[in-house]
Amino acid sequence: MNSSEINIAIVGATGAAGGTALKLLLERNHPADKITLMASERSAGRKLRYDDTELIVVHAKADAFEGIDVALFAAGGDVSRRLAHKAVERGVFVIDKGSIFRMDPTIPLVVPEVNGDDIDWHPGIVSTPNCTSTPLVMVLDAVRELSAISAVTVATYQSVTGTGVAANEELLEQSRTVLAGGEAKPDVYPHEIAFNVLPHVDDFLEDGYTKEEQKMLKESRKILHDDDLLVSATCVRVPVEISHSESVQIEFESDVSVDDARRVLASYDGVMVVDDPSQNKYPMPLSAAGRDEVLVGRIRKDIAHENGIALWLACDNLRKGAALNALQIMDEALRRDAFKPAAQRTTT
Ligand SMILES: NC(=O)c1ccc[n+]([C@@H]2O[C@H](COP(=O)([O-])OP(=O)(O)OC[C@H]3O[C@@H](n4cnc5c(N)ncnc54)[C@H](OP(=O)(O)O)[C@@H]3O)[C@@H](O)[C@H]2O)c1
Repeated sequence: MNSSEINIAIVGATGAAGGTALKLLLERNHPADKITLMASERSAGRKLRYDDTELIVVHAKADAFEGIDVALFAAGGDVSRRLAHKAVERGVFVIDKGSIFRMDPTIPLVVPEVNGDDIDWHPGIVSTPNCTSTPLVMVLDAVRELSAISAVTVATYQSVTGTGVAANEELLEQSRTVLAGGEAKPDVYPHEIAFNVLPHVDDFLEDGYTKEEQKMLKESRKILHDDDLLVSATCVRVPVEISHSESVQIEFESDVSVDDARRVLASYDGVMVVDDPSQNKYPMPLSAAGRDEVLVGRIRKDIAHENGIALWLACDNLRKGAALNALQIMDEALRRDAFKPAAQRTTT
């Protein structure tokens, strides 16, 4: 059975991550009659364009999962908490994009290029990482073959679509208002995001880090199977629509050359090196948006650390950071025969 034969539900299809999943299904020519779109009761009956047809959004509730093979959950933690296990009870393979299952030791947290093997022990649910952790662990996995990594310092520059559709609308609305001489009113964020930068992503914790920053540490450890890895993150929201960028400093246990780092990154699946400063070529959010690869550049010796390499990356947060990674998990699970589609469940 291949992925075009299975029934896929997108929970949160009217949102930023869910909408991108729908776009990716179209790019992959997935048949329209094998897609079920779910969202809140508010959106029930809404029609979303899919190629030359329209798909009708249904209210996400337990019964709606009958006959579904794979459900991509992108509707926030409360919805996943309420419905993911009910979907699993109905035989559905759940891929969850939210944060609630990520650190559950019984649920794998997967970036297929890094730890696809972890799909094998799923209990019906596989979790996908935070959109900043995904590109980071791909880069770390590529370079750790050169030397063990002792510590990572990262600063993120995160786009507003990482917060969802409403945040993107807020950026555009505030920008228009300010350019017209008016005063921007914050709603989604605690301060205005237009023409500003917020060193604040997710809630603050007692140790001074934010939850987002803690996720980058804990998720990296789980995905890379390295409980000793140190990741100190500063997560920053910037007035960019799509793609998160990261300034990454990696400290190795032994010396690593820039050429070797560039070589292993260039040959890593899903990573593209864009690194020609003399021609002003380096990763940018605008060049990463709409692309599947993690773009990596500005690879150089980190003069502040003896065995350090510094680099810069940009990654489409809605694609590899969310929807694409989820679909790749589905493909990998199918390849591994890691779940039973509904048609096979009824005939065996
Ligand atoms: N955006 C990203 O870059 C990104 C990356 C990785 C992971 N994620 C995760 O993906 C999830 C969605 O994020 P988003 O950015 O796409 O948010 P979003 O644009 O705000 O979309 C939220 C979606 O959830 C639906 N929803 C809300 N309440 C619901 C309910 N009670 N029942 C059913 N559906 C409900 C919404 O439907 P209505 O339109 O009907 O309200 C909408 O489709 C979050 O868990 C987030 O952490 C997002």
